Amino acid sequence: MSLKSIALTLAGAAILGAAGAYAYATRHGEIAAIAPPDPAGFDRALIDEGAIVAGLGNCHVCHTSTGGAEYAGGLALPTPFGTIYTSNITPDPVAGIGAWSLEAFKRAMREGISRDGSHLYPAFPYDYYTKITDADLEALYAYLMTRPAVATAAPETALPFPFGFRPLMEGWNFLHLSQGVFEPDPAQSEIWNRGAYIVESLGHCGACHTPRNAMGAAPKSGPAAYGGGYAEGWYAPPLTAATTAPIPWTEIALVNYLIDGWDRDHGIVAGPMKPVVNDLYEQSEDDVFAIAAYIMHLKGGEKPAAEQDAIVAEARARADKAEWGHPEAPPIPDDAQMAEGARIFEAQCATCHKTGGLPSPLGLGTSIWSDEPANLVRITFEGNTPGPLGSLDRAMPGRANQISDSEMAALAAFMRARFTDRPAWPADLVAQRISEARTDLAHRAAGGH
Ligand code: HEC
Ligand code: HEC
Ligand code: HEC
Repeated sequence: MSLKSIALTLAGAAILGAAGAYAYATRHGEIAAIAPPDPAGFDRALIDEGAIVAGLGNCHVCHTSTGGAEYAGGLALPTPFGTIYTSNITPDPVAGIGAWSLEAFKRAMREGISRDGSHLYPAFPYDYYTKITDADLEALYAYLMTRPAVATAAPETALPFPFGFRPLMEGWNFLHLSQGVFEPDPAQSEIWNRGAYIVESLGHCGACHTPRNAMGAAPKSGPAAYGGGYAEGWYAPPLTAATTAPIPWTEIALVNYLIDGWDRDHGIVAGPMKPVVNDLYEQSEDDVFAIAAYIMHLKGGEKPAAEQDAIVAEARARADKAEWGHPEAPPIPDDAQMAEGARIFEAQCATCHKTGGLPSPLGLGTSIWSDEPANLVRITFEGNTPGPLGSLDRAMPGRANQISDSEMAALAAFMRARFTDRPAWPADLVAQRISEARTDLAHRAAGGH
């Protein structure tokens, strides 16, 4: 055991002792089981409202495993603290939440406490859901209690020491959970407030788009909030003015991206953002306009029209000229690695990504402009199949088996230089992202998620 790990273990034990004492003083009781409510007893309009709330909260995305029954849980979520499995939230009284009263359901959503009084991990984004209104929670409850019951129990989560000790979350909640239903800002419009409510509660946008601290907590306000974070190995770019998108976002571009999954000037949605957008595709346009209005507020508003138009014209012209096969395209670089990257691009990518080929030129995609190369590596290896629901299946095949690690590094170096005017990505960072992507792919191939 190294000195560092001894120190960490001792620190862990100290935290554990303190948390244990604190948890004992503030322990939560069990809420009595009820007989599963009769589905016929719920009002139809309330259930329909609940379907909308569940879609805005993406509940099925996490609570359905690949090929598994809807809401039966069992999806493995990799976290820095170990693998956490999502719960069965169908109305089965044993495997699911059929024996939960509305009160028990509300406590779980707002405080992260299961019906039996045990603590839930914040991989379940209750630190966002805590802001959901009573009316929406009642609708959500009616919706979930009227889904088909599935008797299959989700796998047990067993995190390594010290995180396996769930009362530790009492300390986490004390530090990071700020309870209280969303409060509209009377100085803002109704649509702004609707957008703020969705983004900060149901949509849990910050769960991916905000950087997490060592305890896995994401700040809810201040400069770090929405400043860019990580989700399943992908980078969720800043939703603030700190964006690296070459063309500044506008409200209408956000609406296109969030409903159809792509925008001419911002490219396509991939990775863990795709299920979010596929859920929004099913929602009312009014709600998506509300989300876009609030995100534009986070970004500090749109640029004056003349300034925006000038940036758009310049960025589009640059991106068009950079496309493969354009008459004014730059020459293939002499540098050996770049030249190799260009060869791979020509062989593996240029059939689709060429001048006159696809609606969005590669030179406008955030993944290549970002200081974080993770998304370019992920999309190249994993592809994007099927494309987002509203994109008319603009899919892209994954190339993990055709492209070696050193070829991927060459491709990334070439694309960064060709399609942006940003400094090269550090080679060790690219190598690290490639190795992480390989580990995840191997894990999935071995039957993980
Ligand atoms: C980002 C993934 C994610 C999303 C989205 C999500 N959940 Fe969960 N949820 C989890 C995880 C993980 C757990 C289990 C946590 C644990 O075991 O400590 C969980 C647990 C729960 C529980 C507690 C179940 C029990 O038996 O203790 C309820 C209730 C629940 N979720 C409801 C919902 C609802 C309703 C939504 C949509 C508004 C939702 N969840 C969205 C990840 C998610
Ligand atoms: C599960 C994690 C996750 C959640 C939740 C999530 N996002 Fe994302 N988001 C991502 C990732 C990853 C990307 C990058 C996707 C890509 O490049 O294709 C992204 C990209 C985006 C972009 C494009 C940013 C840019 O500059 O290119 C916008 C805008 C966005 N998300 C808005 C939202 C909003 C609004 C919400 C809440 C309603 C939300 N996201 C919730 C993970 C998430
Ligand atoms: C069979 C066609 C096809 C091939 C081959 C292909 N792609 Fe794509 N790719 C697409 C489509 C379609 C899109 C979505 C583009 C759009 O919305 O206009 C896309 C989007 C992308 C994006 C996202 C840009 C953004 O941020 O929106 C990247 C990055 C990308 N491709 C890289 C590659 C690389 C690297 C290769 C070669 C290894 C490759 N693609 C090969 C079809 C393809």
